[in-house]
Amino acid sequence: MEGWHYPRADLAEHYLSLLALGISSNFAIIAPRRKGKTLFVLQDLAPQAQKKKYIPVYASLWQNINAPHEGLITALEEAIAALDKKAVFSRLLKTKIKKATVSNELLGKMAVEFADNPCRPSSSDLAYLEKLLSSLEKKAGKKTILLLIDEIQHLSTSKHFDTLTHTLRTMLDKRQGRVKGIFTGSSRHYMNLLFNEPRSPFYHFVESVPFPDMDKPFIEFLKDKLARDHQITASHQSLNRAFLSFDKSPYWMMKLVAHMVTFKATVDAAQKYVLELMEAAEGFEAIARKMKPIDRVVFLALSEGVNPFSKELMDKIDRETNVKGVQSNIQRAIQRLSDANLISQIHKGVYNIEKPGMRRYLERLQ
Ligand SMILES: Nc1ncnc2c1ncn2[C@@H]1O[C@H](COP(=O)(O)OP(=O)(O)OP(=O)(O)O)[C@@H](O)[C@H]1O
Ligand SMILES: [Mg+2]
Repeated sequence: MEGWHYPRADLAEHYLSLLALGISSNFAIIAPRRKGKTLFVLQDLAPQAQKKKYIPVYASLWQNINAPHEGLITALEEAIAALDKKAVFSRLLKTKIKKATVSNELLGKMAVEFADNPCRPSSSDLAYLEKLLSSLEKKAGKKTILLLIDEIQHLSTSKHFDTLTHTLRTMLDKRQGRVKGIFTGSSRHYMNLLFNEPRSPFYHFVESVPFPDMDKPFIEFLKDKLARDHQITASHQSLNRAFLSFDKSPYWMMKLVAHMVTFKATVDAAQKYVLELMEAAEGFEAIARKMKPIDRVVFLALSEGVNPFSKELMDKIDRETNVKGVQSNIQRAIQRLSDANLISQIHKGVYNIEKPGMRRYLERLQ
């Protein structure tokens, strides 16, 4: 929805200042799906970087999910073409914003997180990538290239992408400082494999930085805009309640706003509608069906911050499921939840919920 982007200039400034400090030339922004990473990078970070004499180059590794190198190649080719034509760089960004918004609406987007026919880039593809970056560097002159690579976790989802990962690391390593990178991704599990596994080429090469949830000012922005542009009165409290029920996802929040504007609906009615939409779009029902009873209990415990190995939970598993509440069964449930990307473990004993809305759905089933 045009005109509804809530600007996050301070956050963009913060990331750029980290780059300027030189602690690292490569940062990773990790947050769950539909939290506003892509639009932040395109609408806030890239334009601000451009003002600071960077040449932002945005590439999505999902452009072709089976051949992630293609997204990089296209992005570099387009950036070179834009510089050649001395075209307005911001036009290139606008096209990408449109593309990202459209792809958010694609049916079954969530189902295609993994390549179904992953293809290894040829050595000439990889050599071409290197050549493109060199020629972009020449054209950039005194400016620094800032690679904004989206869906970076995709690199660790298939062995076929290993040579690309290596090449990327070498390309950046060779040019440390002259080419910088900000990577975004949504799966902490796969991001961990990429950045924290000693065998990965990206090991200790990329610093992870948090991507804070949007908060009160975002709600205030929506409230003011509804009142000013659409003469709709909604309280901060009710909007915030809806936002929390969507696990602070701006995507679902914008669905709420669109529904309110189109149907002159109240916040409560729109919230109800969006929760149903969310349920259908995210396939909660199918996911829940695949979960064993113990998986559900463990998932809910983790969502509530409860220690999954506590005596209390073991008793509950004994009582409510068909298996024994013992360590090995709980460990296996955690493994299944991780494999399904419903949770991730960042440190030992610290879990993240990767599926916003799922907890609410399971609680309603009980
Ligand atoms: N700053 C913002 N202001 C208003 N709406 C926003 C903002 N950021 C994101 N949105 C809304 O949320 C939607 C999803 O945002 P975006 O595509 O950036 O999320 P994402 O975290 O990249 O998701 P994914 O992990 O699925 O790629 C956007 O299409 C837009 O409707
Ligand atoms: Mg995205």
